[in-house]
Amino acid sequence: MVHAIEQIRRMRGGAQSHLMRCSDGEYYVVKFQNNPQHRRILVNEMLGTRLAGRMGLPTVPVEVVEVSAELIRVTPELCIELPRSRTPCAAGQQFGSRYPGDPRQMTLHDFLPDEKLRAVENLHDFAGMLVFDKWTCNTNGRQTIFIEETARRQAGPAETQRATEKAAEETEARGPAYTTRMIDQGFCFNAGEWNFPDAPLRGLYARSRVYEGVTGMHSFGPWLERLEKKITEKALAETAEEIPPAWYEDDYDAVVRVLEQLHKRKKRVEELILSAKNSNRVPFVNWK
Ligand SMILES: Nc1ncnc2c1ncn2[C@@H]1O[C@H](COP(=O)(O)OP(=O)(O)OP(=O)(O)O)[C@@H](O)[C@H]1O
Ligand SMILES: [Mg+2]
Repeated sequence: MVHAIEQIRRMRGGAQSHLMRCSDGEYYVVKFQNNPQHRRILVNEMLGTRLAGRMGLPTVPVEVVEVSAELIRVTPELCIELPRSRTPCAAGQQFGSRYPGDPRQMTLHDFLPDEKLRAVENLHDFAGMLVFDKWTCNTNGRQTIFIEETARRQAGPAETQRATEKAAEETEARGPAYTTRMIDQGFCFNAGEWNFPDAPLRGLYARSRVYEGVTGMHSFGPWLERLEKKITEKALAETAEEIPPAWYEDDYDAVVRVLEQLHKRKKRVEELILSAKNSNRVPFVNWK
C-alpha cells in the first residue's frame, strides 16, 4: 500500500482533494473518506477508473493511499471546510489518483480551447469515454486532464539531448501536442445514490468538438466490444474486491447491487448513445 508523506496543496473542486507526495515517489490527488460529497465517491473512483482501464480507456493509475493520523495532526491544511466549521481530514485508507509526473515540472490543463483540441493525440478516446459514462450513468459530465507533450517528455525516461532539442523545435513550429486522461469518476452510479437516472445529455463532454470524429454507431464499436467482452461478471467482482470495505461502510450487498445493474446495463449503451445523438444539443455533428 502507498503511504502519504507530505501534503503539497489543496486542489479545487467539491470533494476538497489534496495533492500529496507518497511513499512510492509519486504524487497523488487524494480524496478523503469524509469529503463533503459522499463517502461512496471513493468507491466510484476506484471501481470506475479500474473498469475504464479494463476497457482500454486512458486513465491514470489509482491506489489506496494510507494517510496517518500523525500527518493530519501536523498539517492543519488537511481539513474539510464546511460552511460553518472545519473538520480534520480522515486518517486511514483514502483514494489516490496519480499525478502523471512531477507537478513541479509539468503543466496540466483542465480544459483546452476548441482550436487546441485538434492537437490532442487521443481525441478519439472521448467516444470511448462516452460508452463508459453512459454505461455507468456518470451524472457529472466527463472530466479529463490534458498533458502537454513537452511536459510528458520531461517526466518520462531520460532522452538524448538531440531528441529533446528536436521535439522542442517541432513544438515551436506547430504548438504543443497534448494527450488527455480521464479523471474524476466520483459521480458514476449517480454519486452516493447508487442508482442510474439516465438522461440524454448525461455523461457528454462539454465541448462537442471532441466528437467530430464520430460518424455513426460504428465509431463507438471498439469500446462497445470491449465492454461486452472484457467486463464480465468475474471482472466486475474482481475489481470490487480491491475496494476497502470502509469506503462502502461494510455494506457489500449495496456494492453487489451496483455490480448487477452494471452487468445488466451493458446491453443498453447503444440505446443511450442514440438518445444523446437525437437530443437538441446534436453532439455528433458528423453523424448524418
Ligand atoms: N490524477 C490527477 N492528476 C492531476 N490532476 C488531477 C488528478 N486528479 C484530479 N486532478 C486535479 O484536481 C482537481 C480536482 O479533482 P476532481 O475533479 O477529481 O475532484 P472534484 O472535487 O470532484 O472536483 P469538481 O467538483 O470540480 O468536479 C481537478 O480539477 C484536476 O485539476
Ligand atoms: Mg471533478
